[in-house]
Amino acid sequence: MPLEIVRNDITKMKVDAIVNAANRSLLGGGGVDGAIHRAAGAGLLAECRTLGGCKTGEAKITGGYNLPAKHVIHTVGPIYEDGKHGEKALLESCYRKSLTLAKEQGCETVAFPLISSGVYGYPKDQALKVAIDVISGFLLEHEMTVYIVIFDKAAYRISEKLFTDIAEYIDDNYVNEHTDYRRESIRMRAPRQASIGSFEADFCECKEMSVEDDLDIRIKQIDESFSQMLLRKIDEKGITDAQCYKKANIDRKLFSKIRSDIHYKPSKPTAIAFAISLELSLEETEDMLRKAGFALSRSNKFDIIIEYFISRGNYNIFEINEALFAFDQSLLGA
Ligand code: APR
Repeated sequence: MPLEIVRNDITKMKVDAIVNAANRSLLGGGGVDGAIHRAAGAGLLAECRTLGGCKTGEAKITGGYNLPAKHVIHTVGPIYEDGKHGEKALLESCYRKSLTLAKEQGCETVAFPLISSGVYGYPKDQALKVAIDVISGFLLEHEMTVYIVIFDKAAYRISEKLFTDIAEYIDDNYVNEHTDYRRESIRMRAPRQASIGSFEADFCECKEMSVEDDLDIRIKQIDESFSQMLLRKIDEKGITDAQCYKKANIDRKLFSKIRSDIHYKPSKPTAIAFAISLELSLEETEDMLRKAGFALSRSNKFDIIIEYFISRGNYNIFEINEALFAFDQSLLGA
């Protein structure tokens, strides 16, 4: 999965580069800066002394020394005042400059802390949004695996409103296993109608098509595999394969496996990630899931959160992952 939000201590991450939320002196400090210097040892400070400091929004790279990471990219985030002093642009620059440095260094895996969201006071949810927006934009153009490392759960929250909204939606829809079974079996039968219905929607503009041709296409589509439906939908949406799998936060290798094997059965999160990437309706999503051998279930919070976003037409996979993470669910993507 090209972008992952993980809970960890960044000094433990075995990646090509970890990013340090440093200060302009680059001579160490508290927070993640202090943790990285302690774990890396004296060699890191000695190299930092040779760098001559770093401007806010800029980034510089050193070795990793005793860290499991090969490199440390030191960047200096803005001190948050009120959001009206160019803080967002400087924070975006921290991520952009760090990613560019990592790319130039040939790094394939990079881990970021939430820059400026500690001592420098940047509101955590806004800091996370900036990180996700800049990193996901970079990943549309470059092959790299990037981790956003959240140190402590308390330090991580999606906006209160969104959290409450989703929690209410789960309460309204979440049912325990046995009462859901009957609904599940009805839903399993119903989607066939719904999927024919969606075929209806797909072909309503082809008025002149004969009944036989129309039926023939419908039968073919009911029997098509997950992979065939995925490729058909990519064509129908007029997007490229790369646009589809990058938006789904799926790596290229997994996509080519699915593309080359019409009987490939993806995991449920992967199937859903593609449905989100293609911005399918709930019926089409259930149809695609069924072709991979799954169904959305009301006794599964992950599924209900997915349903929450699709029913609101919000297909931003990174926002969906933020919400899944906040509710301790696995994330979308490979
Ligand atoms: N691993 C991952 N994240 C961590 C770790 C860790 N070991 N320790 C702290 N964090 C998180 C914090 O929870 C926060 O969300 O890193 C984020 C950034 O917090 P700070 O380290 O305080 O960095 P910042 O807000 O950018 O302030 C930078 O603090 O430490 C000093 O020298 C540093 O002056 C600079 C200022």
